[in-house]
Amino acid sequence: MRLGNLPNHVGIIMDGNGRWATARGLERPHGHREGAAAVRRTVRAAREKGVRALTLYAFSEQNWARPGGEVEALMALLQEFLVGEREEILGNGIRLRAIGNTKRLPLVVRTLLGGLIAASEHNEGMTLTLALSYGGQEEIAEACRTLAARVATKEIDVGDISVAALRNEMPSLAVGDPDLIVRTGGERRISNFLLFGLAYAELHFTDVLWPDFGEPDLDEAIAAFQRCERRFGGLGEGAASSQRASSPSAT
Ligand code: FPP
Repeated sequence: MRLGNLPNHVGIIMDGNGRWATARGLERPHGHREGAAAVRRTVRAAREKGVRALTLYAFSEQNWARPGGEVEALMALLQEFLVGEREEILGNGIRLRAIGNTKRLPLVVRTLLGGLIAASEHNEGMTLTLALSYGGQEEIAEACRTLAARVATKEIDVGDISVAALRNEMPSLAVGDPDLIVRTGGERRISNFLLFGLAYAELHFTDVLWPDFGEPDLDEAIAAFQRCERRFGGLGEGAASSQRASSPSAT
C-alpha cells in the first residue's frame, strides 16, 4: 500500500459472520459479536491511514427477514457499539452518519444514533457512515419520488432530472461516490449496496470472513485499488498521452 492515492470513499460489505460462527460450532450471533470487533479495528485502521469516508453495510433493508433472535442480537450489538465507541468517535474527530430507513430501528438505537450523529456533526476527520436498514434500490426509488414530487409542484421541470440531480438526493453519496467497494466472505455480488454511486468504483472481493478482517486486509484492498487505472469511460493517462485511441472500452 502506498501512502498517496488513497481511495477517498471506501464502502465495505461485511459478510461471513454467520459462517465464522458456524465453523466454530457457535450460534450466529457470536459471529456478529466478533464482527463488531472487526468494525472497531477497521474504523481505526481506515482513519489512521487517512481514508476520508468509510461506509459500512451493517444491516440491509432485507436483513429484517432474518429470524427475530438474530435481528435482536444485531440491534443489541449496534446499541453496544454506539455506547462503547462514543469516546473513540468523538475523541478522534470522526463524523458519524447513518443512511437507510432508520425509522425501522428500535427506539433505543435511534436515540443513541441520533445523539452521536448530532454530537459529531462538526467533526472534520473521517466520516463514518453506517448503512442501517439500507437498500440501494430503495435509495434510488426515494430519490426518484423526491424529484417527481418537485416536478408535480412545478419546482423543477422533467428535463431537470439528471444524474447530478439524482445524486444530490442520495444521502449515501453526500461524501462522494465510493471509490473502492470491499466485500468479505468470498461471494462476488453487491447485494443492494450503494448501487447508484458504485458506477465507477473498484471492486475488491476477499475470501476472508468479516470477523477475521483486519488492517492487513484493508491494506491489501487499498493496494489493489492503487494498482487500478481508473478511466471513468475515458482513455486514461497512458493512452491519452501516447495518442492511441484504439480501445473501444468504456470502463
Ligand atoms: C453479514 O454476515 C453481516 C451482517 C448481516 C451484519 C453485519 C454486522 C456486524 C458486522 C456487526 C454489528 C455492526 C456494527 C456496526 C456494530 P452474515 O450473517 O450474512 O454471514 P454469512 O454469510 O456467513 O451467513
